[in-house]
Amino acid sequence: MRFLDLFILLILIPVAWAQAWSQGLPSLSRGSSLAVAKENDFLASPKGTFSGGFYEVGTNAYCFAIWFTNSVNKTVVWMANRDRPVNGRESRLTLHGNGNLVLTDEDESVVWSTDTLTSAGVEARLLETGNLVLVNQTKGIIWESFEFPTDTLLPSQPFTKNPTLVSIRSRGTYLSGVYNMKFDDNNVLNLIFNGPLLSSVYWPSTKVTVFESGRTPYNSTRKAILNDFGHFESSDNFVFKAADYGVGPKRRLTLDYDGILRLYSLDDSTGLWKISWIPVDLYNCHVHGLCGENGICVYSPQSTCICPDGFNRNDPSDWSKGCSPSFNLTCDPTKLDFMLLNKTDFYGNDLVTYATRISFEECRNRCLSDCTCKGFGYSTDGQGSCYPKRILRNGFRVTSKPQNMHIKIHRGTVISSLELRKVGTNDLNCSNETLVLGGNDAEGGKTSKNSYIKYLIAFVSAFAVIEIICIGLAWCYGVVLLELLSGKTAPGFQSATPYDECNSLVQWATKQHMTPEGLRKVIDSRLKNESYEEKIDRMIEVALLCVAEDRHSRPPMSKVVELLTAYDESNLDEKRND
Ligand SMILES: *[C@@H]1O[C@H](CO)[C@@H](O)[C@H](O)[C@H]1NC(C)=O
Ligand SMILES: *[C@@H]1O[C@H](CO)[C@@H](O)[C@H](O)[C@H]1NC(C)=O
Ligand SMILES: *[C@@H]1O[C@H](CO)[C@@H](O)[C@H](O)[C@H]1NC(C)=O
Ligand SMILES: *[C@@H]1O[C@H](CO)[C@@H](O)[C@H](O)[C@H]1NC(C)=O
Ligand SMILES: *[C@@H]1O[C@H](CO)[C@@H](O)[C@H](O)[C@H]1NC(C)=O
Ligand SMILES: *[C@@H]1O[C@H](CO)[C@@H](O)[C@H](O)[C@H]1NC(C)=O
Ligand SMILES: *[C@@H]1O[C@H](CO)[C@@H](O)[C@H](O)[C@H]1NC(C)=O
Repeated sequence: MRFLDLFILLILIPVAWAQAWSQGLPSLSRGSSLAVAKENDFLASPKGTFSGGFYEVGTNAYCFAIWFTNSVNKTVVWMANRDRPVNGRESRLTLHGNGNLVLTDEDESVVWSTDTLTSAGVEARLLETGNLVLVNQTKGIIWESFEFPTDTLLPSQPFTKNPTLVSIRSRGTYLSGVYNMKFDDNNVLNLIFNGPLLSSVYWPSTKVTVFESGRTPYNSTRKAILNDFGHFESSDNFVFKAADYGVGPKRRLTLDYDGILRLYSLDDSTGLWKISWIPVDLYNCHVHGLCGENGICVYSPQSTCICPDGFNRNDPSDWSKGCSPSFNLTCDPTKLDFMLLNKTDFYGNDLVTYATRISFEECRNRCLSDCTCKGFGYSTDGQGSCYPKRILRNGFRVTSKPQNMHIKIHRGTVISSLELRKVGTNDLNCSNETLVLGGNDAEGGKTSKNSYIKYLIAFVSAFAVIEIICIGLAWCYGVVLLELLSGKTAPGFQSATPYDECNSLVQWATKQHMTPEGLRKVIDSRLKNESYEEKIDRMIEVALLCVAEDRHSRPPMSKVVELLTAYDESNLDEKRND
């Protein structure tokens, strides 16, 4: 019996000790620091609701963050350095003796700091509200993270005239995105699409006046706050209540990557979030800029983007770059046709003020005869409303109003688009939620087997980009990739002109590649390796597409990178499942 007791004690003591350690630190004192590589180096709020420490955002990429300890996937509510992640080794957060809290990267460069200075003793604490504070000897707060929100507001966190909430870029990508929330110059709380080229307010709706939206511009206090009951109140009269109103559930108000502001409540038993409020006038694809030019938003039950038939997605990782037609639009009405998009609208960008009580034919002719018209909306309720559009932006499926969209296409366009389909259909379905952080892997996986091929791909992609810039659209676009793979240099193929040198390498590779045996000859023997063969085959196919004789059947760079990297990712997944 005694031995058993002793045995249990020997087991239990280290377990309890380890548990105590994994609970996190209550505070960070002057001169001490948190190291990225130490698993137990994180701050915890008094009851453990929140943790603050290094959060992995990609392979070997970390941000200093605050997250909900007990939610599935540790939901982040704040980040210090969202756009400048630090290395997974040697990076640290240090509270200097002078009161400055500083985040340094592996090379000791300062990535972020609070820029605070105090002569009195200082200490960093994570409060039970989720607020990270620096306090002096007399417990006076000299800095707090609540004043610098990222994409989330927590209960009791005031939102004032200074900060702007900025969404994350996509699910799992913590970089700053394109949606903002802030008080505008009229003291009204706005949601804004803030893209690289365009920006527009989409909430409250600009179709009605501020007063019709229930807001007022007259209170210049500019302050909004969510309280512990789940009641939100803003100085512009905007108020709402959580569906589960009352003290209890832990909540957060987040401006999501799709531009929608959502209040979430945590289910403590499962660690999952449920939506406890959403602006009713927003959920149905009314967020601007979501799908880019020519893209159409479909809500089911999340916003998803699609391209109309005959249009191709411009950037596989970013829907806001929109879709491009696979045909050329001319001004010649005899060469134009219209494609019907049922129950669709493109908000804004009307060519002229819209007209009513005109026939479908008349509306169609107005658009046809105007070279700048890209399509028109026409009501199907017999009212004869006609909306010719200059640009097809902010597209969405309409459920509320009877309208169809007719967009201009080149007459005789065969709606099968995408010449690249022959390369492999799945490749065009690259995840829209992949983290792109200097080539890091979103999953945070520690797979190193494929690092060689990853570097090769990165190298080749980088080369191809440089090539485009340097050589433009000349014939040798794509040839560098072939050179890298075949180990033969283009000039090594003796010819009279540089044009022919490229040409002969391309022709040689095309011919060889016709058969699997040929492929092996094309591949440089140094690269010959069972596990890379398919990838190299893929690269050769891409390279050949890039040197296609018809400039327009060559894929755009975004697609080249997509084809190369998407394949690599699908392969990684297979490896993981093994
Ligand atoms: C948690 O993360 C995993 C892996 O990224 C994902 O598959 C899962 O859906 C996430 N769960 C929630 C609730 O977000
Ligand atoms: C501590 O900070 C508070 C708030 O900033 C300030 O009022 C107080 O004077 C400070 N105390 C000392 C000892 O510096
Ligand atoms: C302005 O808004 C603040 C904060 O919501 C509120 O306390 C104040 O009473 C408002 N002022 C007026 C004149 O409505
Ligand atoms: C991204 O893809 C997932 C499925 O892979 C889909 O559920 C989601 O709606 C898509 N989001 C956008 C913005 O296209
Ligand atoms: C588009 O126009 C260019 C000339 O501007 C032409 O070379 C190309 O073949 C056209 N593409 C299609 C798909 O018609
Ligand atoms: C569009 O709606 C019309 C009737 O309004 C229907 O005849 C047609 O099949 C629909 N087209 C598509 C592509 O759904
Ligand atoms: C992309 O994936 C979806 C569902 O996973 C599928 O329905 C669609 O056909 C795919 N698109 C392509 C071009 O392969």
